[in-house]
Amino acid sequence: MKILSVNGSPHKEKGNTYLIVREFLNGAEEEGAEIIDEIFLQEKKINYCLGCFMCWTKTPGKCIQKDDMGGILEKVLQSDLLLLSTPIYLDGVSAQTKTFLDRLIPVLRAHFTIENGHCRHIKGVEKIPGLFLISSSGFMEMDNFELTIESLKRACLNLYMEYKGHLLRPGSHFMRLKDIYKNEIEVVLKGAKEAGKEFIRYGKVSDETKAKVSIPFCNKEEFVKQTNLLWDRLIESLKKNK
Ligand SMILES: Cc1cc2nc3c(=O)[nH]c(=O)nc-3n(C[C@H](O)[C@H](O)[C@H](O)COP(=O)(O)O)c2cc1C
Repeated sequence: MKILSVNGSPHKEKGNTYLIVREFLNGAEEEGAEIIDEIFLQEKKINYCLGCFMCWTKTPGKCIQKDDMGGILEKVLQSDLLLLSTPIYLDGVSAQTKTFLDRLIPVLRAHFTIENGHCRHIKGVEKIPGLFLISSSGFMEMDNFELTIESLKRACLNLYMEYKGHLLRPGSHFMRLKDIYKNEIEVVLKGAKEAGKEFIRYGKVSDETKAKVSIPFCNKEEFVKQTNLLWDRLIESLKKNK
């Protein structure tokens, strides 16, 4: 299976989201997957969609904008799986991720059709990869991912991509607290690697493995207390460095 990893965090490979992505890719690679590229959207020049519809009218399948998205779209179409990763920003995907998603519309064509009783555009390419989501959030509740999952499922319906599932890491800054949560962090990282393996073996990730990646590290009161201590320390250190 050919996997294209697309990361929408401004922190790129240093981010919390990528901790999970890296292990998923390690597991997938061990099971024989080919990682065709790892794209960090923050490093790319990808303009907003202009909404001009030239990719459906004058130059079907091609955007008129000359930026990095043309090459990225080619890679998306070469892949079997788009591994899309994003931090949660205000209960949705990051702006980098949304811009990337909007710029996928050259895979469609202008005319409408009815698919399962719903209006859609017709498909403009023969093969479109499936999509697997990896996301991390700052708050610890799982409901922080709900809107993102739902909107990506809907985007997939529009784009004829099969939504293949997700791995979610809430309260993800605790992944940095290695002294306090060594065991929990290990469970998460091992779970993410196992998820990559399972995905290649079975085409899906079991609920048990997904739960390992999402395990809570402590109760909510403790979570808030420790988080606020982290903020205090950061604010203090920045004051000193002024
Ligand atoms: C602009 C902005 C908005 C955010 N909004 C949310 C949010 O709505 N819910 C949440 O749980 N975390 C939110 N976060 C926290 C990030 O999702 C969290 O820190 C994430 O793990 C960052 O991943 P990264 O290190 O890969 O960029 C927000 C962070 C930023 C910078």
